[in-house]
Amino acid sequence: MQLRSAIFQLLLLHISLSTTSLWVFPAQANEPFALRISCGSRDDVRTPPTNTLWYRDFGYTGGRFANATRPSFVSPPLKTLRFFPLSDGPENCYYIENIPAGRYQIRVFFGLIADPNLASEPIFDLSVEGTQFASLKPGWSGVDDQSFAEAIVDITDTSASICFHGTGHGDPSILSIEVLQIDDNAYYLGKSWGNKVVLRPAKRLSSGTGKPAFDEDMNGTHWGGDRFWKPIKSFSIGDDQAISTENVIAETSVPPNFYAQALYQSAVVGTDREPGLSFQIDIDPNKNYSLWLHFAEIDPAVTKELQRVFDVLINGDVTFKEVDVIRMTGERYTALVLNTTLSVSGKSLKITLKPSAGHAIISAIEVFEIITAEMTTSPDEVSALRTLKSMLGLPLRFGWNGDPCVPQQHPWSGVDCQFDRAQGKWVIDGLGLDYQGLRGFLPNEISKLQHLQSINLSENSIRGPIPVTLGDITGLQVLDLSYNELNGTIPESLGALKNLQILNLNGNSLTGKVPANLGGRPLHRARFNFTGNDGLCGIPGLPACGPHLSVGAKIGIAFGSLFGLLFVLVFITCWWKRRQNILRAQKLAAAREAPYAKARTHFRDIQLGKQHRQLEASKNAHASESVPLS
Ligand SMILES: *[C@@H]1O[C@H](CO)[C@@H](O)[C@H](O)[C@H]1NC(C)=O
Ligand SMILES: *[C@@H]1O[C@H](CO)[C@@H](O)[C@H](O)[C@H]1NC(C)=O
Ligand SMILES: *[C@@H]1O[C@H](CO)[C@@H](O)[C@H](O)[C@H]1NC(C)=O
Ligand SMILES: *[C@@H]1O[C@H](CO)[C@@H](O)[C@H](O)[C@H]1NC(C)=O
Ligand SMILES: *[C@@H]1O[C@H](CO)[C@@H](O)[C@H](O)[C@H]1NC(C)=O
Ligand SMILES: *[C@@H]1O[C@H](CO)[C@@H](O)[C@H](O)[C@H]1NC(C)=O
Ligand SMILES: *[C@@H]1O[C@H](CO)[C@@H](O)[C@H](O)[C@H]1NC(C)=O
Repeated sequence: MQLRSAIFQLLLLHISLSTTSLWVFPAQANEPFALRISCGSRDDVRTPPTNTLWYRDFGYTGGRFANATRPSFVSPPLKTLRFFPLSDGPENCYYIENIPAGRYQIRVFFGLIADPNLASEPIFDLSVEGTQFASLKPGWSGVDDQSFAEAIVDITDTSASICFHGTGHGDPSILSIEVLQIDDNAYYLGKSWGNKVVLRPAKRLSSGTGKPAFDEDMNGTHWGGDRFWKPIKSFSIGDDQAISTENVIAETSVPPNFYAQALYQSAVVGTDREPGLSFQIDIDPNKNYSLWLHFAEIDPAVTKELQRVFDVLINGDVTFKEVDVIRMTGERYTALVLNTTLSVSGKSLKITLKPSAGHAIISAIEVFEIITAEMTTSPDEVSALRTLKSMLGLPLRFGWNGDPCVPQQHPWSGVDCQFDRAQGKWVIDGLGLDYQGLRGFLPNEISKLQHLQSINLSENSIRGPIPVTLGDITGLQVLDLSYNELNGTIPESLGALKNLQILNLNGNSLTGKVPANLGGRPLHRARFNFTGNDGLCGIPGLPACGPHLSVGAKIGIAFGSLFGLLFVLVFITCWWKRRQNILRAQKLAAAREAPYAKARTHFRDIQLGKQHRQLEASKNAHASESVPLS
């Protein structure tokens, strides 16, 4: 322990002196960050034999608790698990915050629910930081080293998202999650691969021991993570034998991979009858693999160079020529690690050790699948989608956890993604949430989805106004908000959307004038529909808009009309009364002096006739001068 930290501090010193003169000593210089979660547990748990501490499962994610059965004796002896019913959505994640940036070994053990009615083996996919690294295969619960999935990944921000993606076969159920920091250069594959890869251990075999072991069991340093080594007593092809030693092995527990000494204290060697060794591993075809081979000369009979020399062939190709462990390490009882990367088209990887002197020897083998790390979605767009999720009241079954676009095998439903090469990020170019029973509002934040080309929210119960900010999504071609409960006016800003081809606002409660630059714009092939909104007006096909009046003006007009009506009624009544009075007076007068009255009446008739003729004449003269109105 003392020695290891001393070595590490020297290493740090060396790095800080050789790169910058700045003294950087992280708080955890001696111990890497390690977080182990006992899923579904309400209390912290310690497990034998290493007294490992597992934290209670609190505040990381959704899902439900259940009692667990251990699918394999390799699984940690934990009693609870967390499972994610498919009705809660296909994507579920643990978000682990406040972890130092660096390289990590992430490991997830799967569980089986301890309920005879529910117990079935779920099949699901796993991703870390948006990159899918494992897919469970039917029958996993019957195989030792398949009861967990592991990834080696760089975490560049201060949080890790570890997600489980349902595939429709049972509810993903998780026994434990381990987030173990390892050396920044652990399993570094060289410049040509860079940091943009995730490594999935496909096999880790320790030969000669006969006991499965974790690094913890082997007294390994914590900077190596806690690798699981499956034992192989014998290589499956050919005749071989296991050997072991108690001697100290040099060059173990050294950076960057910190392999434990115990790994090199046993080995498999060839025999006189069959000096070579050969091993075959089943793998997924058409992938890139990284291979790490471990050797140490522990056979007391081999003491010098050239006593044991062999070629390493991978699928028939010589990959390492004339491996002589003593020559390459300079000493017996000294660890030697060789690594290589290769692309494999077939379904198996055959490793052959072919000696030219003595028998072949090997201590351990690691095979990693090299997975290209996914680029993630633009953070602004992710946060806009989260706002949309809560404001629209998206049903639980949508999930919408983790990253919207990656892993590419499991994008969020209702979201279309496109890779933006300029930004090196995924962006959202389509939203299809039609007919999903949405009951909320459309938030202004929708305009942060700057790359949207199409929005279909038709046939929901979305209320409130159309956000003015929609007019900022300049590339929008399709906007279908039909058959909702939207009210208010259509924002003028929609008129600025030059690329809009389809605009369906029919079947809402919109009011007011359709913006002139929408209605009046030359509509070439564009299809706009405003029907079924009782309050809309102002373009052909809709009612004409009345003058725009304020409430006060409307009240004024109402009162004005009422007074006018009253005035007319009073006037008519007065006129009628007066006429009645005149008629009565005339009758009375006629009865008294008839001739006089008749003459006066006659005279009045003549006067009226004269006036009438003059009026007609002037009217005609006027009409002949003026231009006829159409
Ligand atoms: C574990 O390793 C340390 C040094 O690396 C050593 O001092 C200690 O004795 C070892 N313990 C066991 C049980 O092997
Ligand atoms: C889990 O098992 C304990 C007893 O060991 C029991 O009390 C508890 O109710 C079980 N929980 C569930 C969710 O079945
Ligand atoms: C394997 O690696 C090569 C070269 O680095 C790369 O072009 C190819 O896409 C990789 N294949 C897979 C399946 O990742
Ligand atoms: C793995 O191999 C590459 C290329 O051969 C080499 O550059 C690198 O240092 C090796 N990594 C380790 C950790 O030995
Ligand atoms: C929007 O969704 C509705 C309902 O599913 C569908 O009828 C309509 O054609 C879609 N709109 C567009 C523009 O594709
Ligand atoms: C729109 O409807 C909401 C209720 O859904 C109401 O509160 C709001 O006042 C309405 N706005 C207009 C302009 O009618
Ligand atoms: C507009 O929508 C109505 C239903 O609300 C439909 O009957 C009509 O055919 C649509 N008009 C066009 C031009 O698509």
